[in-house]
Amino acid sequence: MQKLIIKGKRYLNGKILISGSKNATLPILAACILSNNIKLQNIPLVKDIFTMVELLEFIGLKVKIFKKQNTLEILNNGNKINTLAPYRLVKTMRAGVLVLGSLLTKYKKAKVSLPGGCAIGTRPVDLHLFALKKMGAKIKIKNGYIIAEAKKGLRGSTIKFPSISVGATENALLAAFNAKGKTILKNCAIEPEIRDLISFLIKLGANIKFSGRTITINESINKKLKANHEVMFDRIEAGTYLIASALVGERITIDRINPEIIKTEINTLKKIGVKIKKDKSSITILNSKYLKKINISTKPYPGFPTDLQAQLMVLLTQAEGTSKIKEDIFENRFMHVPELNRMGAKIETNNKIAIINGPTKLTGAEVMATDLRASVSLVLAGLVAENRTVINRIYHLDRGYELLEKKLKSCKAEIRRV
Ligand code: EPZ
Repeated sequence: MQKLIIKGKRYLNGKILISGSKNATLPILAACILSNNIKLQNIPLVKDIFTMVELLEFIGLKVKIFKKQNTLEILNNGNKINTLAPYRLVKTMRAGVLVLGSLLTKYKKAKVSLPGGCAIGTRPVDLHLFALKKMGAKIKIKNGYIIAEAKKGLRGSTIKFPSISVGATENALLAAFNAKGKTILKNCAIEPEIRDLISFLIKLGANIKFSGRTITINESINKKLKANHEVMFDRIEAGTYLIASALVGERITIDRINPEIIKTEINTLKKIGVKIKKDKSSITILNSKYLKKINISTKPYPGFPTDLQAQLMVLLTQAEGTSKIKEDIFENRFMHVPELNRMGAKIETNNKIAIINGPTKLTGAEVMATDLRASVSLVLAGLVAENRTVINRIYHLDRGYELLEKKLKSCKAEIRRV
């Protein structure tokens, strides 16, 4: 098992290039099932992407990876297609459940493993299945698998989601691709990654309109079977490095981003007292000495993202006063708290609320990563802590952060993998 060793209190200077978005790439890869010949650029070379590629190959698509160019070429020339997503691939990478909508709308049947829970929660898929049933799919759950079929194809329907779900919105969008008639999705998630998926589906010939939280998909006949797409930047990676810069940056530029998409994160950091200079496709963070407490809840986009909650918590351990974070999206997303407290943080949690007393001096310790975003919060804590921090189980990190050590080392951090 690899570990990360970080020597804290090194002040960072330099530029960090943000990679393509993992959470935009995953649904777009599921959408490649719908086409014949796709070229995707700006792909982040992280574990979850390779797992999704393995799933597409298992289904029968041909995938070529050009690592140096962060490019994928995907062919689906209609040879033997296996409409099965096995447990071994879906259990480690829940987004594998997104092939359900694509397989159903194109091949009228699918057998997809239930993703099962993960560290941050039970991760149900009831909203995904609710939408597919409304479009005429017959669905049963057997031996841990979702067995779905639509012998006469899916039909358009008006679907109002009882609660907002990124994955369920994406699965419904994919399923609507070949549905007969009009599909109207209401109370949708509107994350930028969903907009990226929509722009990709439109390149494949879909007829999709977006207004507020309603997405309308009209039946379209001129489906394209070839498309190129450059995936958007990873706004959570960008937010992570913005917070790292606020913690230990002298002057750091976060490059290859669209600041318009992360307005909420920028305004939140400004409220805390972080000095931020915005440009067209980059943001520069200047040394921010005095940080102030804030109270904030995680919300669906455009609210403050749950995927940045652990990272923000580390910053608030350095802010003057008592801050409050309410985790409103997942039921168990405070696993980083005991590890941060072992490093000297003073954080109490009850149910969905974390109370962070600051400022506290953090000292290096041996800690353990539990999920993707909690593990990166331990890296941030290691950067600002005295002495040495050793982070175990860093395979969690490798699921979603491309070249993390390299990017931090290029800004003078003392970090190495052993
Ligand atoms: C996506 O997960 C992201 N993953 C998550 O990022 C992100 O935290 C989450 O959206 C929220 O923004 C990908 O895009 C691959 P949801 P998803 O469906 O789609 C409940 C990361 O770190 N729910 O919006 O699974 C669910 O339990 C990952 O990159 C149901 O009840 O999130 C949760 O409480 C972690 N029934 C809430 O809705 C359902 O059928 C939001 O989940 C589906 C979800």
